[in-house]
Amino acid sequence: MSAEGVKETIKEKYGQIALQVGSGSKGCCGSAPACGRDDPITANLYTAHETASLPTEAVVASLGCGNPTALAQLNPGETVLDLGSGGGIDVLLSAQRVGPTGKAYGLDMTEEMLALARENQRKTGVENVEFLQGEIEQIPLPDHSVDVIISNCVINLSGDKDRVLAEAFRVLKPGGRFAVSDVVVRGEVPASIRRHVELWIGCVAGALEEEEYRTKLAQVGFEEIDVEPTRMYHVDDARESLTQSGVDVDAIAPYVEGKFMSAFVRARKPSAV
Ligand SMILES: C[S@@+](CC[C@H](N)C(=O)[O-])C[C@H]1O[C@@H](n2cnc3c(N)ncnc32)[C@H](O)[C@@H]1O
Repeated sequence: MSAEGVKETIKEKYGQIALQVGSGSKGCCGSAPACGRDDPITANLYTAHETASLPTEAVVASLGCGNPTALAQLNPGETVLDLGSGGGIDVLLSAQRVGPTGKAYGLDMTEEMLALARENQRKTGVENVEFLQGEIEQIPLPDHSVDVIISNCVINLSGDKDRVLAEAFRVLKPGGRFAVSDVVVRGEVPASIRRHVELWIGCVAGALEEEEYRTKLAQVGFEEIDVEPTRMYHVDDARESLTQSGVDVDAIAPYVEGKFMSAFVRARKPSAV
């Protein structure tokens, strides 16, 4: 499938999820067996204290694999940009942290997700939030305009990660921080096995290998690069789904165990650029 075809498929999938959430059901990510239960990737990412202040639809629409705002340093008055903001959960949490003198932008390409996010903003009544329509490969903001870039399992979906990282670098102010959650693969995994696991992970497929991620960040100019695992995925989490797809789970276990993880990826744009 062409890069444009992949993008259209992603839009369609997330558009449907946004409509499901808007009509009161749970958005579904990944394989059918994981759906409707505690999905090991997307469940329990936020504290009760964090979710208490948010509309239910923002919490139900959460399809990330981490909690970037919990790990990112966000200061009052700063400008934050969330790449692939979905139903807006991390944008609304960031807006609380940067306060009324700061601003939180959400960027998403899926119209239905933007409508859901804007409705969630309306329900919370926050004014220092703006949801933008666009692609993370072509960020609709000027150079040097953002203090912190966050993202929650979206960069791994992009077919052009070099472009996304270059765009993140461009819009960050000198000294600005890149602080994202993403699915990362540790070490080599045979392509066929990777495909099976990615099918299970579903919403968050397309992960970069850890060293490749570091290299790509350094190539566009970032420094102080760090990849911190936040959740490891185990073959037993995927057993039911993989078995249903005809995969011999015990045979692939040694190639999968300890290889797939959610990670918090940090980097900094140099102060003098
Ligand atoms: C896995 S969901 C994550 C949503 C949100 N970050 C969260 O934690 O709930 C992916 C979101 O990214 C958006 N997205 C995927 N690829 C994108 C791209 N290339 N440009 C802009 N948005 C994109 C989708 O529309 C969807 O809303």
